[in-house]
Amino acid sequence: MNENKFSKEIYGDADGIYMSCPEVISKHLAKRLSEYKTGVELCCALGMTVIQLAKKLDYVYGIDMDEERIVSAKKNAQLYGVQNRTEFIQGNVLDENLLQNIQAEVAILDPDWSAGSNKKEHVMNLEMTQPSIKEMFYKAKENITHNLVLRIPNTFTFDILNVLGKCEIENIIWDNRIRFKYAFFADDILENRETNSYFII
Ligand SMILES: C[S@@+](CC[C@H](N)C(=O)[O-])C[C@H]1O[C@@H](n2cnc3c(N)ncnc32)[C@H](O)[C@@H]1O
Repeated sequence: MNENKFSKEIYGDADGIYMSCPEVISKHLAKRLSEYKTGVELCCALGMTVIQLAKKLDYVYGIDMDEERIVSAKKNAQLYGVQNRTEFIQGNVLDENLLQNIQAEVAILDPDWSAGSNKKEHVMNLEMTQPSIKEMFYKAKENITHNLVLRIPNTFTFDILNVLGKCEIENIIWDNRIRFKYAFFADDILENRETNSYFII
């Protein structure tokens, strides 16, 4: 699957490439979020989601604490021709001083949700992601925007997410399996709802 994950030979470490969202799906997300002009991704890794967002939005920030990944993300932005519409910042996404300086209408939260060293096993609750997606959610909501998109493992259900408020879950499906989910939060989402999106990768 990795061979088809991106349309270009991207820069980055093997783990970063493994964790990155496949291009066809970040393109789909970008289309869905194209009503916004500005965005930020908290935990952007190699920048592959930020890059697709930057093709639809005017300006997109990416934050990751891994210095080498930020270097790769900048090179990848150049590779995809969006270097003038993106800014990659090395930092901790829980640092509120950093978040306060980000101007974005929508924030995507994508922490690491693998359980331990086995990347194929996923955590079972909001506090166990690295960093805690619950903490990220409240800090991003307080300091950046109320329009929040969480990339979460397929183990997360409304029961787990209810503590954060009502949301829309979008199931991302390929090879007849839910691979992961997006949870969309915004002030006008007042009831839980669920949709399915199918992809060929
Ligand atoms: C699942 S990957 C992100 C994939 C990326 N969003 C994409 O779509 O291609 C998770 C990233 O979270 C970063 N990370 C973990 N803890 C962090 C923290 N406290 N602050 C910033 N980045 C962090 C890791 O370095 C890793 O690159």
